[in-house]
This record gives sequence, structure tokens and C-alpha cells, in this order.
Amino acid sequence: MPQIVNYLAIAALAACAAATPVAEPAITAAPSLEKRATCTFSGSNGAASASASQKSCATIVLSNVAVPSGVPLDLSNLNDGTHVIFEGTTTWGYKEWTGPMLQIQGKDITVTGASGAKLNPDGARWWDGQGGNGGKTKPKFFAAHSLTGASVINNLYIENTPVQAVSINGCDGLTINSMTIDNKAGDSAGGHNTDGFDIGSSSNVVINGATVYNQDDCVAVNSGTDITFSGGYCSGGHGLSIGSVGGRSDNTVDNVTFKDSTVTKSDNGIRVKATEGTTGTIKGVTYSGITLSSIAKYGILIEQNYKGGDLKGSPTSGVPITGLTISGISGTGAVASSGYDIAIVCGSGACSGWTWSNVKVTGGKTYGSCQNVPSPASC
Ligand SMILES: *[C@@H]1O[C@H](CO)[C@@H](O)[C@H](O)[C@H]1NC(C)=O
Repeated sequence: MPQIVNYLAIAALAACAAATPVAEPAITAAPSLEKRATCTFSGSNGAASASASQKSCATIVLSNVAVPSGVPLDLSNLNDGTHVIFEGTTTWGYKEWTGPMLQIQGKDITVTGASGAKLNPDGARWWDGQGGNGGKTKPKFFAAHSLTGASVINNLYIENTPVQAVSINGCDGLTINSMTIDNKAGDSAGGHNTDGFDIGSSSNVVINGATVYNQDDCVAVNSGTDITFSGGYCSGGHGLSIGSVGGRSDNTVDNVTFKDSTVTKSDNGIRVKATEGTTGTIKGVTYSGITLSSIAKYGILIEQNYKGGDLKGSPTSGVPITGLTISGISGTGAVASSGYDIAIVCGSGACSGWTWSNVKVTGGKTYGSCQNVPSPASC
């Protein structure tokens, strides 16, 4: 049916024409077809055009878009059910600002990285070894905020973020499949605070098969419920973390699972952090089937005395850690001889109902200052 195909192609062109400053043939699409259009954007006007046209396109293809400096690629006003596809290499201009460089928000949104597509913010331009603590002001990369319903992000490949990579906040119903965050170059070039996934105030979030090379937490769940991270590979960073919990606007973590994942060449394997002197809840957290290797500091670290740094305060009981499961941890010889295999520091009566089975973490020292360790855990 060549005629129908041609007509749809013209309609698609027309739907995008309004937002594109470049002169294009004045074709007016039938309104009923306009919302069904596939719109393709590229080049240095692509981000602004996509943003301006987001309500008119059922599918948005971003093909080799060059996002200007200091503005986000903003897709935070999408119609329900929109499909966003990245093709080729998406780049961003340089500016010292806080970001985010990319924001996508909506209900039942599908985001796809096409084969060979890369999102490359070229973070090395900001890296100075100081991350978020000073030096250049660095833009956060991807705000995946308020994605709800049955939203899915598939096969995105992200390379070299200036600082934190993916922030998940206010989401309820988001699945991320096979995402790669490759900040490997930052290991030797001053990458710092390049967290993979920071999760807050979200529920029903599933992250499957992520690969993260970075220099901070692979995953940090600061608050949220019903969250699963599965089949992940984390290298170079600070491991699989809960928290720090306490002292934020949302201090509840409930039903979070990390499973069947690998953590290597990292400061920590597993870390659960409650901030000293605060209140909150860490309930029903499970780590199972976690393989550790080349861990520099702590194989497993569970602390209720986090104070701007690990194990820095005195443990308090305001953020109880209950129903924690640590099961099937393979880390024989995994910890450096200067590190500690397991450290557990709880406030009085504030850690309870734990499951602890088949935990093999060796290679490092015994931490001599464990406190209030609940049975059957050992330290
Ligand atoms: C825990 O969260 C997972 C999603 O990560 C969900 O499938 C499961 O039903 C939740 N369990 C409970 C007891 O709510």
C-alpha cells in the first residue's frame, strides 16, 4: 500500500514542521493523524524542537541530537504512552550548571536506545576529582522522574557523566532493562560522585541487567518501596547501597531487593547506611546471590552510625534495620587485606529479624568494633 505509507510520511513531516525553524514545505496534516505521528529530530535544533513538539508525537526519534550547553533535553511533558527512541550519538554542550541534562517524565512511557546508540555527555570536560564537593559545578545527567504506570527504559547506553548518572524520583511503575552506564574513563581521569542509580521516593521500580562502571554508589536507594535490582554488574564504585537513610524529606525504605548481581573493583560490596541521630525505617531489604571480588574497604557494611562518612558517629536507634536478609554472598578472598570483611554497628535493639545464610566474605580483617549484632548475623 505505497500511497498510504507516503501519506503517513507526509503527515509525520508536517507534525514536526511547526517546531522546526528551518523552512520546510507548508503541509498541514489532518489533526486526527497528527497525534499518531512519528517525529524525528536531529542536530543542534533537535532538542528544542523535540521539546516543543512533544505533545504532537506518539513516537519521538532523537537521531544524533546535539543538545546545546546549559539546557536539558526536556521531555517532561509527554503524552501518556509516548515512545522515545535514541539513535546515533546524543551529545551535550559544555557549561558549569547543575543540570539535569536529560529529563523524561510521564505515564506509560517507553524509552529505547536503538542498536549502537550512545548518550554521551562527555563528562571528562567537568571531571576534576571533586565531584559534587567542589571545583567545577557539574550537571547531573538523567532525571528519570515521575515515570509512572508501566514505563520502561530499554537498552540505553550512557557514557561518561559529569557527576551522578541516573536519578529516579517520584516514580511508580518503572522498569529499566539492560542499561549501561560506562564511566570507566573516570577511574583515571578524575571522575567522582558518578553514582549509577540514585533512587528516592519511588515504588515499583525494577532494574534488570544493568552494567555500571563508575566512582560512587552503583545503586543507592535513599527512600522508596518495592524496588528490585537484579542481574547487575557493578565495577569501580562503592557497591550496592541503601541510604544513607535519615535526615531527608523521605526516610522510608521498605521491600528493596538486590539479587543475582556482581560487585567488583569497588570500595564496598554491600552497604546499608542509617545516619546517626535521625529517624526513619529500613525494612525488608534483601541481598541475595551477590558475588563480590576486589573489594577495597568493606565486603558487607551495615551501620547506624553513618555521619558524613562510614562508621564515623556513635550508633543510634532512630532508623531501625528490620527484616534484613543477607543470603548467598560469594566473596571468598574478595576483600583486600587492608579492608574489613564485615562490619555491623547497630544501636541498642535497633537491628532485628535478620536472615543471614551462606555468607562467605573473606580476605580482609575482622572489624573489631561491631556493636549490637543481631543473631544470626556474625561480624
Ligand atoms: C516487593 O517488591 C517487588 C518489586 O520490586 C514486588 O514484586 C513484591 O510484590 C513486593 N513484595 C511485597 C511483600 O510487597
